[in-house]
Amino acid sequence: MEKLNVVSPAYAPTLLTMPWDQPLDEWSGDLLAALPRGISRHTVRLISAGGLVFAVKEIGEAVAYHEYRMLRRLQELDAPCVVPVAVVTNREDADGGALTACLVTEHLRFSLPYRDVFSRVLEPDTVSKLVRALAVLLVKLHLLNFYWGDVSLSNTLFRRDADQFSAYLVDAETGEFHEPLSPGRRLYDVDVARVNIIGELMDLQAGQYLDASVDVIALGNAIEQTYLELWDLMTGELVVEGDAFDAIAERVARINQLGFDVGEMQIEHTGDVHRVHIEPAVFSTGFNRRRLQALTGLDVQDRQAQRLLGEMEVYRAVRYGGRLPLEAVAHRWMVKEYEPVVHLIPPELREKLEPAQIFHEILDHRWFLSQNLSRFVPLAEAAESYFEKVLPGHRDEAMVYRLPRENGDT
Ligand SMILES: Nc1ncnc2c1ncn2[C@@H]1O[C@H](COP(=O)(O)OP(=O)(O)O)[C@@H](O)[C@H]1O
Ligand SMILES: [Mg+2]
Repeated sequence: MEKLNVVSPAYAPTLLTMPWDQPLDEWSGDLLAALPRGISRHTVRLISAGGLVFAVKEIGEAVAYHEYRMLRRLQELDAPCVVPVAVVTNREDADGGALTACLVTEHLRFSLPYRDVFSRVLEPDTVSKLVRALAVLLVKLHLLNFYWGDVSLSNTLFRRDADQFSAYLVDAETGEFHEPLSPGRRLYDVDVARVNIIGELMDLQAGQYLDASVDVIALGNAIEQTYLELWDLMTGELVVEGDAFDAIAERVARINQLGFDVGEMQIEHTGDVHRVHIEPAVFSTGFNRRRLQALTGLDVQDRQAQRLLGEMEVYRAVRYGGRLPLEAVAHRWMVKEYEPVVHLIPPELREKLEPAQIFHEILDHRWFLSQNLSRFVPLAEAAESYFEKVLPGHRDEAMVYRLPRENGDT
């Protein structure tokens, strides 16, 4: 009889319905969720059960436990990663033959493997955005003293976040916590990322998913510079002569813009020279995200939150001449602007994108319409036009049917 080690007892009944006595690649097709899955070394399947979707990976017992522990710890630290559910060991088939242990995680909703971010070809600009999102993720993990060991696009999941992406760690098999995490290890992670990304982009090029003229080496190398810039922004000392106020405010704003919070700040000054050390808050849920959540209860991703907050500011300025504080306007904005639009999303299109992402796209669409029509376009009109002309063209990202090239198992 197999043995289940489950994080939350609520999952146990559902997990017990799964056919653990069969090798994962023989599980019946109707258990499989029609969702995109990235390239993997092990057998990985996305399984629908009890109204939920799980990712199940067959992997050696010791490694399964290791990965499970790493994900649990990362989860406790609020790191962007997949949520561990269970480890299943002592599996046996009907004849008593031993089967490989499994690690079960929650499927990350609306997430995409990098090969599914695009529909036909990948644009260099999109690659840059993916690389940047991965660099932000790596900085977050390093601030938590987590060494990843196998950084790659394949081991990352991406979610659309306004006009960018946010990245989540999916594969923690090689990860380790090191306190402190030495610069040597951090830079090793960056180098692994660089080499892996270049390899992954070359594969895309070979498959003609990325134009042959694109300089994949330059695109991959960019992770190093982006990472170093971000790391310096997050941890580097700021030295200012004279009035330090603006420089500090600017630094804090840049940190917030990246979705990081500021924890503590130390300022030393000798005469006219200020040395400012800003400690990033490592439990980084996202500055904008937390602000939006406090104002409205909405939980969305950081850039989406930034966009919604910006829109709320415009509403406040236009309707109330900026006289009311944002706190007073937030509820009205939700009831009068955000919710009506979200309610208007046609039911058959709801699996296409997250509601906050749809709202963001409607704002873009409104801008585009008003440019074309040379007049102000009300939100409702923009929404209707978007639901009719734009959204149907998107693939379902909550539920995507498998494309031939997603057959990535090796
Ligand atoms: N929790 C999850 N949510 C969504 N997709 C997942 C999840 N777990 C795994 N996957 C998909 O399966 C792929 C392979 O998982 P991974 O852990 O990297 O396996 P391997 O250790 O064999 O490389 C990932 O790239 C991702 O597309
Ligand atoms: Mg992997």
